[in-house]
Amino acid sequence: MDFSFTEEQLMIQDVARRIAQEKIAPSAEDHDRSGEFPLENIRLLGENGLMGIEVPGEYGGAAMDPIAYVLAMIEIAKGDAAHSTIMSVNNSLFCNGILTHGSEAQKQEYVRAIAEGREIGAFALTEPQSGSDATAMRCRAVKQADGSFRINGKKSWITSGPVAKYFVLFAMTDPDKGARGITAFLIDGDRAGFHRGKTEPKLGIRASATCEIEFADYVAQPEDVLGEEGHGFKIAMSVLDAGRIGIASQAIGIGRAAYEATLAYVKERKAFGQPIGAFQMTQAKIADMKCKLDAAFLLTLRAAWLKGQGKKFTTEAAVAKLTASEAAMWITHQALQIHGGMGYSKEMPIERYFRDAKITEIYEGTSEIQRLVIARHETGLR
Ligand code: CAA
Repeated sequence: MDFSFTEEQLMIQDVARRIAQEKIAPSAEDHDRSGEFPLENIRLLGENGLMGIEVPGEYGGAAMDPIAYVLAMIEIAKGDAAHSTIMSVNNSLFCNGILTHGSEAQKQEYVRAIAEGREIGAFALTEPQSGSDATAMRCRAVKQADGSFRINGKKSWITSGPVAKYFVLFAMTDPDKGARGITAFLIDGDRAGFHRGKTEPKLGIRASATCEIEFADYVAQPEDVLGEEGHGFKIAMSVLDAGRIGIASQAIGIGRAAYEATLAYVKERKAFGQPIGAFQMTQAKIADMKCKLDAAFLLTLRAAWLKGQGKKFTTEAAVAKLTASEAAMWITHQALQIHGGMGYSKEMPIERYFRDAKITEIYEGTSEIQRLVIARHETGLR
């Protein structure tokens, strides 16, 4: 077993680290306060290959492997979690889904623009009444005599929804068939029948714009179907498997940012005549933070390695996401506690890390859903 990274992987990590520290981190607080979408930075990430890390060069990407994606995501999330949310949806949920399931024409039309950072992509699965229970969707796509589909319905909590041009949409084409009656479509947000709702006011990742979208007699052509009709649910699930590696990486980045800030603080801050890092209670927290971060990183690398080898990685991605997101929540909580009043203040980034970490336990499958996926695999029972 080789734990070293390749030159290419280290190179993209370095590019991501540099952009994150020089361009993203300095404005993270402002973006958090204003909630302004960081379009300029997203374009910069695209120009540097970070919006299509696993996308082959012929479609405008960096042609790297899933491990390179993990390393780059961690760096961007350390700089600002909201940027890494936008990056993960573009890479994992949008480009990855089309690369795996799309036609040559779809790859040329949709993937290149996103991978190069010229446009933003989004993934529309969740609805107001269906989150974890994704097959309970109501959005309908009704086939017309000429082979086109008429789409009506609402999707909610759409990351990058207010600014995205292209969407991977999941809609029910045959409600009698349940999961097997769902079809995936590629949607152009500039076409008639597509509407955006209000932007959600969120606890964290505030600069990653999120909104509801609505379809009112939107017409999708047969060539807009992604994969085969009726295969949409499997596409959604397999795309989310890859997405969960991205969210695990994001959680590690947030956790590392909080950990590094805490390490510096415990050496500097004094109480009862010594640095607070010399107290055993603080040392125990530091040791546990380090263990949780290392475990999350290694589990995420395992899932990414399996993906890169073309092997099944559903369970390993769920294990990585569950471990990393719960580690990020615990670490940011402890970091805030160690910083005391300063941690609670907006003058330091700790409270932002704490707010940002929470979403990693919710989106792309809650911690409860990850446990369900893992336990179903382990027991064979459901
Ligand atoms: N890969 C491929 N196919 C899969 C799969 C996977 N990982 N998991 C399930 N399937 C297939 C099954 O084999 C089955 O196929 P057959 O009909 O041929 O047998 C079909 O899908 C249905 O599977 P289940 O019976 O297991 O489905 P279920 O209704 O019990 O649901 C679930 C399973 C795991 C709970 C699933 O609904 C799930 O993951 N829910 C969470 C949804 C989620 O993560 N939402 C996040 C929203 S997106 C987001 O957050 C993006 C963002 O903006 C950041």
